[in-house]
Amino acid sequence: MTGQPTDFDARARTWDRDPAKLERAQRVAAAIAARVPGLAARTMLEYGAGTGLLGLALQPLVAHVTLADSSREMLAVAQGKIAARRVGNASTLRLDLAAGPAPELRFDLVCTLMTLHHIPDTDGILRAFHRLLSSGGFLCVADLDREDGSFHGPGFQGHRGFDRADLGARLERAGFQNVRFETAFEIEKDTGAGPRVFPAFLAVAER
Ligand SMILES: C[S@@+](CC[C@H](N)C(=O)[O-])C[C@H]1O[C@@H](n2cnc3c(N)ncnc32)[C@H](O)[C@@H]1O
Repeated sequence: MTGQPTDFDARARTWDRDPAKLERAQRVAAAIAARVPGLAARTMLEYGAGTGLLGLALQPLVAHVTLADSSREMLAVAQGKIAARRVGNASTLRLDLAAGPAPELRFDLVCTLMTLHHIPDTDGILRAFHRLLSSGGFLCVADLDREDGSFHGPGFQGHRGFDRADLGARLERAGFQNVRFETAFEIEKDTGAGPRVFPAFLAVAER
């Protein structure tokens, strides 16, 4: 896979300096661990893993974790952590499911944190997640609830969060069942109109 450096490439080396990002990943990891049965036997894909904050929080609990992202620099940071911590059950994968078909890989758990809103074709990515999951696998999506666009500000090309009912219907159309939502965390952020709190959900669905 080739591609021009992205804004995420430029932010990779300083990404983990924000304690809020670490705390959010820990909270979502705890919620996933409480909702998904049999973690110890599951292989996991974290899609849009960035520096691997969520995947590496779950790594001690799962059989293997693959940290996938389209950003070469994010993956370099994630790979550095895997090497420094001598983690034996984690690897990185450069992957952009929006740019091509899903690879012939299967996982028992697919997780994604704050990435779905960056992917224009929601139905397409949910179908790709479904293809990547083995039967009985779980999908966990954590992302922003519907917002007015002030989270990213003017010019952002992605989604302004998600309406839970709409995303739930899309998950079911993609083939998932037993879809449930909970509020997982909040993000405090300065916007053009001052500081705001943005709620975010965790959706858990079964293949
Ligand atoms: C907001 S960051 C979240 C990173 C990480 N999940 C976290 O919570 O710290 C979004 C991540 O999604 C990745 N990303 C954006 N579009 C992508 C795509 N089409 N395929 C794979 N990764 C993508 C970016 O490179 C970035 O690492």
